[in-house]
Amino acid sequence: MDELLNQITNDPYFYSVKHYKQSAWLGHAPFMKFVVRELKPKTFVELGTHNGFSYFVTCQSIIETGLECKAFAVDHWIGDAQAGYFDQFVYDQVVETNQEYKHFSTLLKMSFSDATEVISDSSVDLLHIDGYHSYESVSEDFFSWLPKMTANGVILLHDIHVRRNTFGVYKLWAEIKKKYKTMEFVGSHGLGVVFLGEAPLGLFAELFEISNNGNLAQIQGTFGSISDSVMQSLLHQESASLLKHTEHERDSAFHERDSAITERDLIEQSHIWRASKFLRVIKIRLNQVLSR
Ligand SMILES: C[S@@+](CC[C@H](N)C(=O)[O-])C[C@H]1O[C@@H](n2cnc3c(N)ncnc32)[C@H](O)[C@@H]1O
Repeated sequence: MDELLNQITNDPYFYSVKHYKQSAWLGHAPFMKFVVRELKPKTFVELGTHNGFSYFVTCQSIIETGLECKAFAVDHWIGDAQAGYFDQFVYDQVVETNQEYKHFSTLLKMSFSDATEVISDSSVDLLHIDGYHSYESVSEDFFSWLPKMTANGVILLHDIHVRRNTFGVYKLWAEIKKKYKTMEFVGSHGLGVVFLGEAPLGLFAELFEISNNGNLAQIQGTFGSISDSVMQSLLHQESASLLKHTEHERDSAFHERDSAITERDLIEQSHIWRASKFLRVIKIRLNQVLSR
């Protein structure tokens, strides 16, 4: 167990996250990188992409591991009552980031149910469900997409530990756990891992065994500590870019002020300005008289 967990901890692959976007999913980035490397999916589908944090971590991992994998991000990009509603800007930003991955990544701007018409049955190796998190919606997402999965496919479910308001993934999770081989993470609102096949593959098998032997906390701790470092460096990047932006704004303001001063000096030095001085004096006097 220690050998594998130390190996994961010391591997720089898990620490690099290229595209920071605001997300409640931030802490799962290192584990998603593990999933991509070990599962080697040929087709990845995400239901619920929003800003694209989880989606682009996956795309980045696909490139870094040299996989031949098609990726699909499904979202109507309207938002919902839990994630909040948003405008076109969010989608435009996702389109822009997707330029880097467009040779294998497709954005499906539609509802999850419409996308079942686009993706073939038995073709998806990795499915990430992160849409509307009520019990009814997530159950529909899970069961309507199950026929799309390959025999050894893996389904990830976000928010399995959120119990407030309309969130109900935890109820579905309790049902799924009785039926499938699973593993779970508690941080960043919880992530459930469902193995559909007989046995997980590669290092996944080892991880699953560690988890089954009552050592799930060690796995969570390992990925949790990597994700703490990742988040620290993402926040550092974010504040550095904010600072750079503020400095740029300050420099532009100084530049504008200097140009205005130069323009004023030029006007004051001009012949017309000097020649018309008596008119300005009259105007001032007139204003003084009128205001008495
Ligand atoms: C929690 S956000 C996704 C967060 C994202 N995975 C991340 O990394 O931050 C949920 C998204 O699901 C989308 N959504 C919810 N229900 C949907 C549906 N039935 N069809 C299409 N999109 C849906 C919303 O527009 C929203 O962008």
